[in-house]
Amino acid sequence: MGPHAERVALPGRRNVLLRPIQPQDAEAEQAFVAGLSLAARHFRFHVGLRQLSPAMLRQMTEIDHRDHVALVAVADAPAEPRRIVADARYVRLADAPTEAEFAIAVADDWQSLGLGRTLMDRLARHARGQGLHALVGDVLPENRRMLVLMRGLGATTRPHPDGPQMVQAVFPLQSGMPQEIRPASPSPSY
Ligand SMILES: CC(C)(COP(=O)(O)OP(=O)(O)OC[C@H]1O[C@@H](n2cnc3c(N)ncnc32)[C@H](O)[C@@H]1OP(=O)(O)O)[C@@H](O)C(=O)NCCC(=O)NCCS
Repeated sequence: MGPHAERVALPGRRNVLLRPIQPQDAEAEQAFVAGLSLAARHFRFHVGLRQLSPAMLRQMTEIDHRDHVALVAVADAPAEPRRIVADARYVRLADAPTEAEFAIAVADDWQSLGLGRTLMDRLARHARGQGLHALVGDVLPENRRMLVLMRGLGATTRPHPDGPQMVQAVFPLQSGMPQEIRPASPSPSY
């Protein structure tokens, strides 16, 4: 069972509906990714991808809502029906099932409204309810905005096992739990 649907009011009377992604969102998800700026796509996918391959698109929209959970923000505006303006997800790690790797992106013209923070909060809340102990994400060191957001939510950062081109943001979900350092594990392909 994925997270609950929820309406969220953002500044400037821009409202969104947060809800789990569905297979019918494939076209809107493709448009969302293709519409991101080059910088945002680079920060999100770490590669110069312009659009999602059909296989990737399926992987991102046809999910089980258990090991792979994804929340999208859909613009609640008659002029933009079904437009996806943000996507936040996690995938449980096969070798550490109480941890999951997360990723998030907000459309450029919907950034700095608090949406990233709200989505991370809802994703974390859901993950906690599912018994997860931590969300872990690969962040490029030059991604100041993401690092500020994560620190504001209580995450810590640590060196990435693969090298200095990335840092790992660790978002603890269970209070009082020591943060163990895990060995490198292959990134899930989402
Ligand atoms: C990182 C990202 C998800 C943030 O989403 P957002 O909706 O703009 O974030 P919010 O509006 O919730 O702001 C989050 C924090 O960033 C800070 N922030 C906003 N604009 C900023 C800026 N230009 N520089 C530095 N920090 C900034 C705010 O202070 C805010 O902190 P606060 O809530 O404690 O005040 C979004 O910028 C994005 O999608 N970037 C491209 C993809 C990406 O980097 N994904 C992360 C990969 S791990």
